[in-house]
Amino acid sequence: MSKDSLSIIDNRTGKSYELAINDGTIKALDLRQIRTDDEDFGLMTYDPAFVNTAACKSAITYIDGDRGILRYRGYPIEQLADKASFLEVAYLLNVGELPNRAQLDKWVSDITYHTYVHTNLIKFLEGFRYDAHPMGMLLGVVGALSTFYPDAKDIHNPANRYLQKVRLMSKVPTIAAFCFRHSRGLPYEFPRNDLSYIGNFVNMTFSIGGRHEPNAVLQRALEILLILHADHEQNCSTSSVRAVGSSHVDPFSAVSAGIAALYGPLHGGANEAVLVMLDEIGDKKNIPAFIEKVKKGEGRLMGFGHRVYKSYDPRAKLIKQVAYDVFEQTGLNPKLEIALELERIALEDEYFIKRKLYPNVDFYSGLIYQAMGYPTDYFTILFALGRMPGWLAQWEEMLLDPDTKIARPRQVFTGYDQRDFVPMAMRG
Ligand code: ACO
Repeated sequence: MSKDSLSIIDNRTGKSYELAINDGTIKALDLRQIRTDDEDFGLMTYDPAFVNTAACKSAITYIDGDRGILRYRGYPIEQLADKASFLEVAYLLNVGELPNRAQLDKWVSDITYHTYVHTNLIKFLEGFRYDAHPMGMLLGVVGALSTFYPDAKDIHNPANRYLQKVRLMSKVPTIAAFCFRHSRGLPYEFPRNDLSYIGNFVNMTFSIGGRHEPNAVLQRALEILLILHADHEQNCSTSSVRAVGSSHVDPFSAVSAGIAALYGPLHGGANEAVLVMLDEIGDKKNIPAFIEKVKKGEGRLMGFGHRVYKSYDPRAKLIKQVAYDVFEQTGLNPKLEIALELERIALEDEYFIKRKLYPNVDFYSGLIYQAMGYPTDYFTILFALGRMPGWLAQWEEMLLDPDTKIARPRQVFTGYDQRDFVPMAMRG
């Protein structure tokens, strides 16, 4: 008998089966042959939230959650955060290799010269109320981009896919900055192609009267944060991009689904939720009572815990370092003290130790964004800017994978068997 196989005995029938094991997985479809009789549909797995199901093969990002390892295309996140630019990382994720000088220059130039958006998009933005959540605006406007670029439907053409990726990389920062200005009632600041990717974005958000004094330390800190967020294998938003993209819709629509998933407080919205939580705690003396509430199940310690990391999130470690560089420039965020104390107490508490709950990427990022001058409801937008290259790389990998089919999970039906319609007069 081959070693790379799994023997199964179905105790209902006494029959035995041998299933192949490849890459540490069995094919769920191989279970279908296990039936009680010809009428039986066949065995399925039940795995809500895909907790133990690989839904695709991917060569992009590697995570070892127990050892706190994160690599993009084999390169450790620590080295990329230290040495690479965000656009270099975006190229790496999408192409698979670090660019040489000429390749990087072309990639940067292509992205730089697509930063403008059609002015009709501004009318679209103006339709949002003054207090519209920036993520609600972003997901709506990015979805609307699909109507501006109907050519994006040609997803099987590699040159066309490249163009749409460039458009998303370049126009989403412009739209994100417009959302920021909209919330403040400020006039939109148009892109400046003489600035770097990060410099241009910062200028579009903070420039007043055409003036903004760039701060190189803060811009590099923002760049590192974007690098740390650039991809994270099959998380909720990336799975959404893949699932929606598997219907062969254009990438603007698929990415807009990713933005919607990221908006949620259990995913990208957690950085905003952390700040709300720190405000609620208000003072270090209130931390023990807050922790007790969490342990009783009355709320969660936001920015803690992760589906994959069961040790310290390597991104959180790097972000903590960045925080100190930023606070040197901006002055200490007073909430940092509460966050540090919260972390210290939680990491010594049996409840968190037993469940392997450590700070995740969102625990400190919000404090940095706030110190930079971004409002709480804007934090997840910054996450979305960072995650864009990952969504695009995963979208294309999904399209090119010969195993890809339209995403369509099965269900265990728990409802009524057939029953006859009851006329209104006879209903209780
Ligand atoms: N605070 C308190 N308890 C927690 C927390 C937390 N942050 N996270 C998990 N737990 C507890 C759960 O109550 C559960 O306890 P139980 O076994 O007694 O029922 C146990 O730990 C396991 O939790 P699950 O919810 O099953 O873990 P799951 O993998 O489904 O959830 C998640 C992961 C959603 C990230 C969760 O840890 C959480 O809600 N964290 C807070 C929100 C957050 O920070 N999200 C950002 C994630 S990172 C990102 O998206 C970029």
